[in-house]
Amino acid sequence: MQACAVPDARRMLLDGERVDSASGATIPILNPASRSVFAHVPRAGAEDVDRAVKAAAEAFASWRDVPPRERGRMLLRIADSVEAKTEELARIIATETGNALRTQARPEAGLTADIFRYFGGLASELKGETLPLGEHLLSYTRREPIGVVGAIIPWNAPVLLAALKIAPALCTGNTVVLKAAEDAPLGVLMLAGTCQEHLPPGVLNVLTGYGHDCGAALGAHPGVRKLSFTGSTEVGKLIMEQAARRVVPVSLELGGKSPSIVFPDANEDWAVEGIIGAMRFTRQSQSCTAGSRLFLHASIFDEFLEKLVARTSKLRLGDPLDESTDMGAIINEKQFTKVCGYIEEGLGRSDARLAMGGLPPETGPLSEGFFARPTIFADASNDWRLAREEIFGPVLVAIRWEDVDDAIRMANDSHYGLAAFVWSRDIGQALRTAHRVEAGWVQVNQGAGQVLGQSYGGVKQSGIGREFSLEGMLDSFTQKKCVTVNLGLAAP
Ligand code: NAI
Ligand code: MG
Repeated sequence: MQACAVPDARRMLLDGERVDSASGATIPILNPASRSVFAHVPRAGAEDVDRAVKAAAEAFASWRDVPPRERGRMLLRIADSVEAKTEELARIIATETGNALRTQARPEAGLTADIFRYFGGLASELKGETLPLGEHLLSYTRREPIGVVGAIIPWNAPVLLAALKIAPALCTGNTVVLKAAEDAPLGVLMLAGTCQEHLPPGVLNVLTGYGHDCGAALGAHPGVRKLSFTGSTEVGKLIMEQAARRVVPVSLELGGKSPSIVFPDANEDWAVEGIIGAMRFTRQSQSCTAGSRLFLHASIFDEFLEKLVARTSKLRLGDPLDESTDMGAIINEKQFTKVCGYIEEGLGRSDARLAMGGLPPETGPLSEGFFARPTIFADASNDWRLAREEIFGPVLVAIRWEDVDDAIRMANDSHYGLAAFVWSRDIGQALRTAHRVEAGWVQVNQGAGQVLGQSYGGVKQSGIGREFSLEGMLDSFTQKKCVTVNLGLAAP
């Protein structure tokens, strides 16, 4: 591939240095709002992965022995530096992902600083236990780091997801090789540079490359002692197979098709607002937790839908950098075509009723980017492909229910189990429902984003492992060692 000059800020981070790929090859980076290439980053392959893993393995020898509070202080300094650059980071994220600056990219950059601050503050919580084995024995456990963590992330909230791997992995004394998504590496590379200002070389290495070469090589590298992946269920299964070959622990944050169950007593504006939030329309619904199956009680179906359509129609689509924009563009042509395919399928069904939206405009300013309109199909059935597959675009299906057992059965009739939403003023009813839904995270009467400190993750094919919280960090990034000491010199 033709090499082209990559400026320093867009080079990879390897052993403390900014580097190009060994081959000199690059990847073009597209602005999804204009469909134009505006940057290039290195295209790493197996050789770069090998160098990065070796650098991380070498750095691990001393990083693991840095006192945890000192590691924590470095993370706190990173938090301050990221915070000082929030605006610059947010604009990079908005440009490369197509996510609107005001509603998405700026909050993402802000949350990134919070993530480093949260995990920086947890460094003194890496506690072990003592076991009561009698006066002659002292038995205790230590939380030890695992080694080199291979982390692979997607493009939908790239910088935030990078921080969610880097901060807990480093806090617990591991070193990291992270592969950014080929569609959104620029914000991650900027974050890498900011981290490097406060870290010893080799502790964090960040590569940019495609999944099938760079990602696959990282997954298969024998020097990687833990794999942490966020992305599609399909690739998650490949990562788990790689992990199985070497018996290394793996965390997977995968897809979802999350249900939103609305009871008749929630036929109100706050619930409508909440459903829009839960559907993540302002992220073009490119979110694994999107509440994309809306189960509306038959008695309120039409009225609720009418309010939802009226409110959703007010969302402004457009230039991600414009402060008045609510909703930006879909990440790339492949995803855009995939989303359009689902809309076409819905339009082609005689039993589907289009409540709003439809195919993207073919003329006018929005046709210049990958802009998909919020689209709602009413009178949907839970067994349609539209209701079963993760669309990862702003396409919502509304399904009617009458009996609560039926609603829960439909909600659980999915191979996914990431998030769920329940809407009712009757808290007993809402909680009984929440407890019966198969999901890693159920929200009642709100459709908010993840909060630091919650143990976030999925059940069924939505993933395994939890990384968001203190407990998640300990479970995912440390291994327990037990030490047993005979205190008397005679046999106990
Ligand atoms: P993907 O799962 O292919 O990509 C995620 C990451 O995995 C990227 O860094 C990619 O380079 C890497 N990757 C791809 N193939 C790999 C391989 N063989 N070995 C190692 N790493 C590999 O997701 P993609 O193609 O961007 O989107 C496809 C679908 O996945 C979406 O439509 C959506 O349904 C789902 N998805 C879910 C996400 C989530 O947060 N759960 C995030 C992104 C996509
Ligand atoms: Mg893929």
